[in-house]
Order: sequence, then C-alpha cells, then structure tokens
Amino acid sequence: MEKDRICVVGGGFVGLTTALAFVHHGRRVVLVEVIPDKRVALASGQVPFHEPGLDDALPAALASGNLEIVGDLTAAVSSSCATFLCVGTPSRDDGSIDLRFVAAAARDVGRALEGRTTPHLVVVKSTVLPGTTVGLVRQAVEETSHRTSDTGVSVASNPEFLAEGTAYRDALEPERIVLGTLREEDRELLASLYEGFPGDRLAVDPTTAETIKYASNSFLAARVALSNEFANLCADVGVDWYTVADAIGRDPRIGPMFLRAGAGFGGSCFPKDVRAVTAFGRERGQPLGILEAVLANNEAQPLVPVRLLEEALGGLAGKRVALLGLAFKADTDDVRETRAQPIWRALRAAGAEVLCHDPMAGKTFGQLEPEAVIMPSIDAALQDADGCILQTEWKEYQAITPEQYKGRMNRAVVVDGRRIHDPVAMRAAGVDYRAVGLGLQG
Ligand code: UDX
Repeated sequence: MEKDRICVVGGGFVGLTTALAFVHHGRRVVLVEVIPDKRVALASGQVPFHEPGLDDALPAALASGNLEIVGDLTAAVSSSCATFLCVGTPSRDDGSIDLRFVAAAARDVGRALEGRTTPHLVVVKSTVLPGTTVGLVRQAVEETSHRTSDTGVSVASNPEFLAEGTAYRDALEPERIVLGTLREEDRELLASLYEGFPGDRLAVDPTTAETIKYASNSFLAARVALSNEFANLCADVGVDWYTVADAIGRDPRIGPMFLRAGAGFGGSCFPKDVRAVTAFGRERGQPLGILEAVLANNEAQPLVPVRLLEEALGGLAGKRVALLGLAFKADTDDVRETRAQPIWRALRAAGAEVLCHDPMAGKTFGQLEPEAVIMPSIDAALQDADGCILQTEWKEYQAITPEQYKGRMNRAVVVDGRRIHDPVAMRAAGVDYRAVGLGLQG
C-alpha cells in the first residue's frame, strides 16, 4: 500500500475525469476498467467518448507513468490507500436509483481488503441517495472484508459536480470539494489526496455530502424549469423572457446562471437525479412536490417549440421540418434524455417529415431513434423545409444567416428552442422567427 496511490473504479466519464485530475495534481492513480474493449482503448490513450481536454490529458498521464489502466481490481485496491467508486447508477423504470453496480463494486473492494492489515478508505463518488454510503456501501465492504473502521477500513462520500463539456476543467478547478467522512483521520486522508486542488473544502458527514449533490442538481434543474414556466407566460403576455431574465439575474440573490429557457433539460444527471430524489422522498413519506412539478414541466416543455411551429405553419401534417440539434446540449455527442427525442416524436406523430442534423450527435441519436433521418449538413437539412426547430445551442447554428434560411427553405419559418439567434435581426431580415419565451411582438 502506498500513501499517495489512489485506485479509481470505473473508467467512464466521471472515473476517467477524476483519475486524470488526480494525476495532473501529482497523485499516482490506478484506474480499474472491467470492460476489456474500453480498457484497451483507454490504455492506448483513446478516450471512448467526447469530452474536451481528455484527449490530451490521457496520453500525457499515461506517458508520465502516474496512471495505470488495469482490469484486476484486487491488486489495484491492495496497492492503494483509497478507492474511489465511480460506477454507474442507472434509473429503474419507476425513476428510483439502481445501486447494483455500486453494491457489486463495494463488495469487490471489500474482498480485496480481506486479510490485509493496511488502512483503506472507500470513497463513493457515484451519485447515490442520502444514507447509501453509511448504509449499503459500508455494509457491503464490512461483510466482505471482515474489517471495520476499528481495523482500518472505512467509507466516505465525495460527490462530483462535473458538467459535460467542461468536466476536466471542473475536476481540476472545483469551486468546492465536499469531504464526507465519519472520522477525523479519514477526513485528513481525503483532504491530503486533494492537496494542490483549488476550491473550498467542506468537511461534512457522508450523508450530508450525498444530500448536497442531490440538492445542487435539484436547485439547478428547478431554476431551468421555473425559467421555462415563466418563459411560456412571457410569450403569452407578449414580452421576452430573456429580457426579464437579464433583469432578475442582476439581483445577487438570484444571479444570472441557469435562467435560459428552452425545450427543457436533458443529459445524464438532471432528469435522473431529480427523478431519483423525488422517488426517495415519496418512499420516505416526504414528498418533494416542487420537484414533481419540475419533472412534469420538463416533460411538457419540448412540446412548446413544436406547438409554435404548428401555429406558424397552420398544421404539421405533410410538412417538411428541419430539426437542428440532437445532443442534449452543445459540445457533446451525448443524447441521453435529449429533448430532441420528444420533439422528433411529436413532429412525426403530427405527420411531419423530419430531417435531423447535429454537428456531433447524429450517430448517437440514430441509435436512439433508428428511423430518424440524419442529414450530413445544415444546408441539406434546411433544403426545401417548411419550417425549422433549433434544439441545441451549437455555435454552428448561431452562424446560420437569414439568407441561408431564406435561400434554402421552402418557407423561412424558424422556431428557436434555445434562443440562438437575435430575434430583431432575424425578423428584420425577413425570417418568420419565433422562439420559446418570446411574445410575437417581443
Ligand atoms: C449538470 C450539472 O451542471 C453538473 O454540476 C452535474 O454534476 C451534472 O449535471 P450537465 O448535465 O453536463 O451537468 O449539463 P448542464 O450544463 O448543467 O445542463 C443540463 C441541461 O439543462 C441541459 O439540457 C441544458 O440545455 C439545460 N439548461 C441548462 C437549460 O435548459 N437552461 C439553462 O439555463 C441551463
């Protein structure tokens, strides 16, 4: 066991980013990836998903000799002072969280610690519900290792706050590092692993740490949902939500971030985490009614741009529609919970022919919706279209000119679901421009 050597279990988005951030800050990391294909790709310096910064950081970390990618968890755990669990926590059909990978990893780590005498801290980085670390994880580790904190094995929670597209920067320069531990020596060890990282250190117990993560994502998702709700009201009364948002965002108690109205929130975290915590609240007899409403709003919101287009075209049946933007947000090929999916389905259900485009997510969206027609370029998607919906705020779409819409489309009707364009400029140039949260006279 080496004091500055860390084991990270799971070579996905969170595990890899975490491992590379530790290596950057001088730690030695052994990353366990059990899927052979993924492991081989990672060991040869290839990142199997798109995330800015990692393509350079991974080969550099491997070349430095401070990152090892392995398949054998036992050796990796027993040669390290701490293991970070970064495995997936998928949703079940009812929205509750499926902890089977966390439980399996905790048991594997426990077995690797059995019969040893050196101390070890098992740190949960995967997003898990309050009480999981001191409950299920501790139990699994203790049962399999036959050790407890009295014999040097304890558990901690250290949630991540990584956003896709900026994950590596978020990991290198966190605003806060939540150290959820039960004992002073565990807190000291965890803090020492983060030596050199900027950010406030928040020393709490593991259950508080887990709650911080859910509260953080719930508040952000709720801000987006409330922005969407107000945006719909603004459109109805003929004003522009973005003008309203700019004004309220200047109040330091509110702040300017996460007020962008659009087609709703997607991605691997917000929908899943809000569903999980609302299911948890229901189970415990502490219903989270506001978050239930946030989820309902997010289901309904993708239909807003569809309705705007329907109104503009006087119906969608037989119309040719360009759907620009399939990723759940810009700069990623991730389509998990993308709002493009309900938009695509609603357009098709209304009888429209839909031509899709995305600079990066065409392939992944095609896997989600095999019948989707993915066009190779923006112009090809716009060609002869009766209308267009903008769903992702790619900079490529910001650069589309009114002339391009007018030149390519049958009718230059553009519904901006992410407020990509300047309404005044678009309308002055003769585009029939409509947007979420924008009154027609707005
Ligand atoms: C989020 C959190 O930001 C991150 O801290 C957490 O660890 C994981 O979840 P991510 O899902 O990568 O990260 O993306 P984020 O940029 O937060 O956007 C989430 C969704 O909300 C996207 O679909 C985005 O389009 C939408 N959104 C965000 C809005 O609709 N309006 C906004 O103002 C902000």
